[in-house]
Amino acid sequence: MRVFSGIRPTGELHIGNYLGSIKQWVEFQEKAECIFCIVDLHAITTPYNPRELQKNILEMAIAYLVAGLDPEKCIFFVQSTVKEHLELTWFLNTICPISELNRMTQFKEKSKQFKESINAGLLDYPVLMASDILLYQTDLVPVGKDQKQHVELARTLARKFNRKFGKTFKEPQVLLPKIGEKIMSLQNPRKKMSKTDDPKGCIGLFETPEAIEEKIMAAVTDPGKIIKYDSMKKPGISNLLTIHSLFSGKPIKGLEKNFRNKGYKEFKKSLIKLLINSLEPFRKKRKELLSREVYVREILKQGTKKAQMVAASTMENVRKKIGLV
Ligand code: AMP
Ligand code: TRP
Repeated sequence: MRVFSGIRPTGELHIGNYLGSIKQWVEFQEKAECIFCIVDLHAITTPYNPRELQKNILEMAIAYLVAGLDPEKCIFFVQSTVKEHLELTWFLNTICPISELNRMTQFKEKSKQFKESINAGLLDYPVLMASDILLYQTDLVPVGKDQKQHVELARTLARKFNRKFGKTFKEPQVLLPKIGEKIMSLQNPRKKMSKTDDPKGCIGLFETPEAIEEKIMAAVTDPGKIIKYDSMKKPGISNLLTIHSLFSGKPIKGLEKNFRNKGYKEFKKSLIKLLINSLEPFRKKRKELLSREVYVREILKQGTKKAQMVAASTMENVRKKIGLV
């Protein structure tokens, strides 16, 4: 079974990214053939600072290594270093109806958010993503819920290409995390945790113990005192329970029992301790890797080599099928 996923190199990661995506990736490398990609070509479809792109790519690579991606167990590389992604995008463009792209939720949202730069690349973003996935004959694509529609387009394009030119691509399936697909903001538990929206509602993967304590103590809870999961009536405490459960590995039901007759304060103290202990090794390892840039770049280089072999073989077949050789 082959697994592929990608993440855009945009600034620092938070625990929502970790629980919603990285944690799954790390588990998959133990049981499947995994390819993970830092998608820099996707990152440049919205306004960005060219001087910061390389720094962000390196930060992202370090974050993933720190969180447990093992270059011995998976292929880990930067998208723009394998040119086949761009070549396949062009071919898929020729079979992708514009109407499919116009109805994509992310395109509509980003067009509203970045009114000044609604560029063709932003519209074409899902076709590039389909190329990422199809190039590697992917079976499973673990992503957050927001990306489901894009993976469905990849399926549609695979099917269409196969029908037109003969069987060439596998049809990939999307995989959403069972819990943690949406970690909420600590300040507004009805909104997704997001660094850009509200730094106070968001815990970074490399947050200091002091900041963790401050942010959890200030986290919005719900009326009443009972520690009980109920995402509709008690979104605040439910979100904290989810975070606790995902870091401690204890089921939510068990946590409810442990904290029966105890107040929010005691629960928060326990969560603070858990987060500090869980994130401390990440901070240490990040510091170490920041001083080993050559080593990290070498891992990405080796990843490129391996990814390129698979991509080249798919593309040879694709060119033949469409009549270019
Ligand atoms: P982004 O930084 O929005 O491109 O997200 C990177 C990955 O993290 C994607 O797989 C998202 O679905 C996931 N993600 C982002 N924010 C959250 C959140 N608050 N809860 C769970 N997953 C998230
Ligand atoms: N669009 C995805 C996101 O914003 C990132 C991505 C690019 C991706 N190519 C991919 C995810 C291929 C999975 C598979 O999160």
